[in-house]
Amino acid sequence: YPIYAQQAYENPREATGRIVCANCHLAQKPIELNIPKSVLPNSVFEAVVKIPYSDNAQQILANANKGPLNVGAILILPEGFSLAPISRLSEEQKARAKITPIQVYNNQHKNILVAGPLPGDKYKEISFPILSPDPQSNKQTYFLKYPIYAGGNRGRGQLYPNGEKSNNALYTSPVDGKILQINKEENNSTKIVIETNSNNTVTEKLPSGIELIVKEGQIVKTDQVLNKDLNVGGFGQIESEFVLQDPGRIKGMILFFFSITLTQILLILKKKQFEKVQAKQLNI
Ligand code: HEM
Repeated sequence: YPIYAQQAYENPREATGRIVCANCHLAQKPIELNIPKSVLPNSVFEAVVKIPYSDNAQQILANANKGPLNVGAILILPEGFSLAPISRLSEEQKARAKITPIQVYNNQHKNILVAGPLPGDKYKEISFPILSPDPQSNKQTYFLKYPIYAGGNRGRGQLYPNGEKSNNALYTSPVDGKILQINKEENNSTKIVIETNSNNTVTEKLPSGIELIVKEGQIVKTDQVLNKDLNVGGFGQIESEFVLQDPGRIKGMILFFFSITLTQILLILKKKQFEKVQAKQLNI
């Protein structure tokens, strides 16, 4: 959950560029990010994170039943950009904001936004309304090309914040050896007793919901996978860029194009006039 990231990491983007959700959501699945190419200062625009997955996908839940997937997203904006206040939204955006709970990541990073968990059947697209800063009033911001990073996740993670694996993870044999016993415990968890080559026994406990792919009597190697991979979800991240456009530059550009057109027209008029004079002179 985004809250796990908020609690464990002050900054969700590591030095390598990796977004920390990937530390617990181990499978990789693609996402998309839609943003405008350029935005004006002090204006509201939308960044849409798309988290596609098959509609009928079901996953293993914490209670070992099968159920639908939830989705969540994180958006890392440049410094100075923030979640747009409700008062600045259009009616359509207001209606969407009401049903899409978006939070700032933490007080140090108001430019980082998170959403989720949200039901995946309704939120394969999560729309973040964003307010751009005005470099005229906020001297820390500039008219520049900026990078923007997004992450999106569908489905349950493999690791809990305490380091324990969820029942949506792969379990492996800690040793080389032979499986002596496979016992179902009362709470539906599974205990696997493995005899090592030096005749010690090692016990591996697997939570309810996992599906074993090994049998009693089987020889296993260290790190050999013991259960079926039931994970249908995954996390993906993407980066893009956009320009914070100075309206003065656009006005200047229009003025420049206009002056070029005007001088061209004047040039042609002059040429026509000169042609007339030439024609007169030839007639004499
Ligand atoms: C569950 C998103 C970070 C571990 C989920 C779910 C979402 C999500 C949407 C619900 C999935 C479902 O019910 O189908 C995210 C996002 C993250 C993030 C966007 C980053 C901003 C983390 C981190 C950890 C983690 C850092 C580990 C410390 C888990 C686990 C579950 C889960 C174990 C399953 C919980 C359960 O059902 O028992 N996450 N997550 N997540 N997440 Fe994350």
